[in-house]
Amino acid sequence: MPKAKASTDPYVRVMNALHVGSRPDELPCRQAEKDEIYNAVTSCLEDGSGGCIYISGVPGTGKTATVHNIARKLQAMAKGEEFEPFRYLEINGLKIPEPTAAYALLWEAVSAHDVKKHGHLRISAKEALKKLTRHFETGAGEDDEPIVVLMDELDQLMTAKQDVVYNFFNWPTLKNSRLIVIAVANTHDMPERVMSGKVRSRLGMQRINFKPYTWQQLQEIVDSRVASAAQKGKPPPKILSKDAIAVAARRVASVSGDARRVLDICRRAVEVAAEDKSTVQTADIDAVIRAMQNSPTAAYIRQCSLHERIMLAALHKVVRREGVAEVQWGWIMSQHLNYVDNLPEEGESRKKPTPAQLKMVLNSLHASRAVIVEDGPAAARRPDWERKVMLNVEPPEVERVLSEMGGSRWKNALGI
Ligand SMILES: Nc1ncnc2c1ncn2[C@@H]1O[C@H](COP(=O)(O)OP(=O)(O)OP(=O)(O)O)[C@@H](O)[C@H]1O
Ligand SMILES: [Mg+2]
Repeated sequence: MPKAKASTDPYVRVMNALHVGSRPDELPCRQAEKDEIYNAVTSCLEDGSGGCIYISGVPGTGKTATVHNIARKLQAMAKGEEFEPFRYLEINGLKIPEPTAAYALLWEAVSAHDVKKHGHLRISAKEALKKLTRHFETGAGEDDEPIVVLMDELDQLMTAKQDVVYNFFNWPTLKNSRLIVIAVANTHDMPERVMSGKVRSRLGMQRINFKPYTWQQLQEIVDSRVASAAQKGKPPPKILSKDAIAVAARRVASVSGDARRVLDICRRAVEVAAEDKSTVQTADIDAVIRAMQNSPTAAYIRQCSLHERIMLAALHKVVRREGVAEVQWGWIMSQHLNYVDNLPEEGESRKKPTPAQLKMVLNSLHASRAVIVEDGPAAARRPDWERKVMLNVEPPEVERVLSEMGGSRWKNALGI
C-alpha cells in the first residue's frame, strides 16, 4: 500500500492520498452507519450474547472501509482492557478457495488455535463443520471469549445449498453462543434468499444498507482525502480546483455513486497535472473521463471469447476490491467460477471450466498482453494458486466495454 508520508512532493502526496488502496482514518459521510455497527457489536459484547449484523450496498459505498475502521478501533480497545478480551477473525469470501473453507477458519478461532504461532490447522471442512455444529448446538460456548467475525464478500460464499451462509447467520443465535457475525455483501436480500420467514424473524438480525454516495458526499470524500495529504502544520495542497472535484463527483454520482471511481478519476487527473505542475481544472477531469472511455483496448475486448471476458471481469473485480494491482491467481479462479453461475446469457454455457481450462484462458489473455503473469524462479517455487496476475489494459475501459457488451447482468457484477 502506498504511504503518503514518504514524499514531500505535494503531487505525490495527493496521488497517494487518493489511491483506493490507502486507508484513511477518517471516513466522512459514514458516521451514522459506523455508529450503528459499532453499537450493535459492543452491545453484544457487553450482554455476552451472539448476534448478526448484515451490511449490504453496491460496490464502492464504503462497506469494507467502514467495518475495517471499526475492527481496528475494537481491537485497540480490547487491548486497552476497556472490553473483556475477544477474538477477531476476518473471512473474505474471495480469498478462500471455496465457501466451506470458512468452517476451518472459524473452528480455529473457536478452539483458540494460534495460527500465527502454529500455522493453519490441518482439518477438513467436513470435520470443522462437525465440530462447530457440536460446539454451538450443545450450547457449550458460555464461558468462552466472544468471537467477532467479519465476513466480507459474503456473495462469494453462496452455494447451491446455501448452507455456509445459513450456518454463519444461525450460529450466533443459538443458546450461549458468543459469536458475533458482521456480514458484508452487495446483495441486499441474502437473508431472504437463504432463510425462510420464520427462521428470519427468530434470528432478528440487524440490517444496514449503505446507499450510493450523492455527488456532494463524493466531493466531501475527495476533499477529505486531499486534506489528509497536507504536511504537518501546512494547508492542504491546492492541486485540484474546487470545480474540478465537483465535476468528477457529479459525473460519478450520475452513474454509480461509487467512491472508487471518483478517487480513480481524480488521481489520474493529478497524475497528468504533475507533469507540468499545473492545477487540475474541470476540462482536465473531462479529458481524463474521455480518455478512460476511448482506447484501442475496447477493440481487443470486443473480440474476446466469453471466458476471456469473464476472466477479465473477474480480474478487474479482484483488483478493484484489493486496491492493489497484482492479485493471486487463486482469487481470480474463484471469482471466475462464481461469475460463470450468473454472467452468461440464455443459451450460453454455464458449465464450470476445470482449472486446466481456466489456465488456458489465462494463457490466451497473457499472449495478447491483456494481462501480465508473474514469472521467474521465485514465482515458480510458489504454488500456482499464489502466482500474481496483473491487468495490463485500462480498468475503466474493461469496465465500460464489458458492460456495454453484456448488459445489465454484467453491469451489476462490475458494479456499474
Ligand atoms: N466515506 C469515505 N471516505 C473516504 N474514503 C472512502 C469512503 N467510502 C469509501 N471510500 C474509499 O473508497 C474505496 C472503496 O470503498 P470500500 O472498499 O469500502 O467499498 P465497498 O463498499 O466495500 O465495495 P465492494 O462492495 O466492491 O467491496 C476505498 O478506497 C475506500 O477507502
Ligand atoms: Mg468491500
